[in-house]
Amino acid sequence: MDPKLSVQWVQELRESPEIVTRSLLYVTVALLVALIAWYYWKISKIERMISKIPGPPTWPIIGNAHLFYGLNMQNLCEKQTALMKEYGTTLRFWLGPYLWINLAEPKHLEALMTSEYATNKDPTYQFFKDQANGIFIASGENWKKLRKLVNPTFNQKLLENFTECFNEQSKILVDVIEKKTDGSVFDIHDYVARCTLDILCGTQMNVNSTEQLDNTSNFAKHLLWSTEITKQRYIKLHLHPDILFHMTELSRQNMKHIHHLHKFVKGVIQKRKLARKEENIATDALIIGEKKRPVFLDSVLHHYNDLPEDKLVLKITDMFIAGSDTTAVAISYALMIMGIYKEIQEKVYKEVINVIGDNDDDITHLDLPKLPYLEMVLKEVLRHYTIPAVVRKLDKDQSIGDLTLPAGTSAQLCFYAVHRDPRFWKYPESFYPEHFLPEEILNRPKYSYVPFSMGPRNCPGYAFAMMSMKIVVAAVIRKYKIHSDVDLKTMEFNNVFMLEPKNGYPIQISKR
Ligand code: HEM
Repeated sequence: MDPKLSVQWVQELRESPEIVTRSLLYVTVALLVALIAWYYWKISKIERMISKIPGPPTWPIIGNAHLFYGLNMQNLCEKQTALMKEYGTTLRFWLGPYLWINLAEPKHLEALMTSEYATNKDPTYQFFKDQANGIFIASGENWKKLRKLVNPTFNQKLLENFTECFNEQSKILVDVIEKKTDGSVFDIHDYVARCTLDILCGTQMNVNSTEQLDNTSNFAKHLLWSTEITKQRYIKLHLHPDILFHMTELSRQNMKHIHHLHKFVKGVIQKRKLARKEENIATDALIIGEKKRPVFLDSVLHHYNDLPEDKLVLKITDMFIAGSDTTAVAISYALMIMGIYKEIQEKVYKEVINVIGDNDDDITHLDLPKLPYLEMVLKEVLRHYTIPAVVRKLDKDQSIGDLTLPAGTSAQLCFYAVHRDPRFWKYPESFYPEHFLPEEILNRPKYSYVPFSMGPRNCPGYAFAMMSMKIVVAAVIRKYKIHSDVDLKTMEFNNVFMLEPKNGYPIQISKR
């Protein structure tokens, strides 16, 4: 354009601002129309792709969000189960503009869990990023790097080495709860959670933690409160944007609980850093046998040497959570349930006594395969109460056999439903360890039981979990008889990671 003309044009615009306003309005309207047209084109393409998948009728803009608004975990699972009864296990619902597809067919779970395009977590996991911003919610290259670092820290030899700590902390637990043999009813989770936290610190962090004796951090309670708050965001669409959530009183309370969690994690990091300095650690690994084996915290300190401490805390807090909260819940359930079903307790007790006796001898990794009934009990606990679902964001259109799910879908892999599907379980609602007899296992599709998930993004701690849970439960059961009056059928749940009972795990114990 001739520079003289352009100067003249700018001058004209300055003299008549209404032209500018009108032009801006036209451009904005045109952009909005284009955006809405693009949105509807995209949605209708997705609708065509998923036309075979049933789901409840949608409302404009919010889709099906109203169905879930304000539900707690109990009601959420029940709502989803009811929807699955009405529409089948594979169903879709729209949360505003987001498409969620619920999957509970073993072949669908297998296709997704083993797919390299379904390893990313749904963006809603980012709600947890103030609490922990590590491997559990990471995506893409960031996740791959962390996973590469984590996998070797669960090496079999290292796990065998950890059994010393599992035993040591189990014995402390047995001593600490001795004062409860006075017949009083108490929540066993309060004690077990501190035991599993000390176990996690003593193994993967290589730091001696004494929460069982001092109880200074209240880690499990702050975790419960923070998680309950964060989970509310899932079912309240207006709390999805960080900016809105951070303006609420809920967020302020959340940050207080998170402060306590991080204070504990920071203390562990500082202890380990100091020990490394004092020991003048030249290597970042425990030497076991001939080989160097890195534990998790040493590996992180090595690979993220330059990361400021607050970022380091955020990066590893989820290992504290995943590694202690889950096992604490499962152990507490196992003990409480044995208090309800005395015949199961007696069978476990006899098995334990036969294998390791009623003395204080350590339970070795070689003893563990000799406790098949205890393993069946723990597996049945996890069938009922593991993480009810994981949600993956699909990077690409994904074929799962008879269906193709569109890229961008949030695929909800519903463990809760598949673990209670009457096609695979003789007594889906009952506590029946015999579901895990070898012949029963052979009769089921492989992906009908997935408490630790499967595939490249499965739980790397599953063997650690099974070993530590067996040792803790065996140590308690060989010393105490347990009684509990809880009615599993009427139990209500908290909205947290695992399916946790609202009223805790009340039991009574007496010496054997
Ligand atoms: C009963 C005990 C446990 C259960 C039921 C459990 C279950 C799970 C599940 C379902 C996932 C999500 C997998 C997915 O998204 O597909 C997971 C992830 C994870 N778990 Fe566990 N877990 C348990 C114990 C442990 C322990 C003891 C540790 C560590 C010591 C651990 C470390 C992790 C980590 C680091 C992840 C994130 C993996 C990733 O995103 O790549 N878990 N766990």
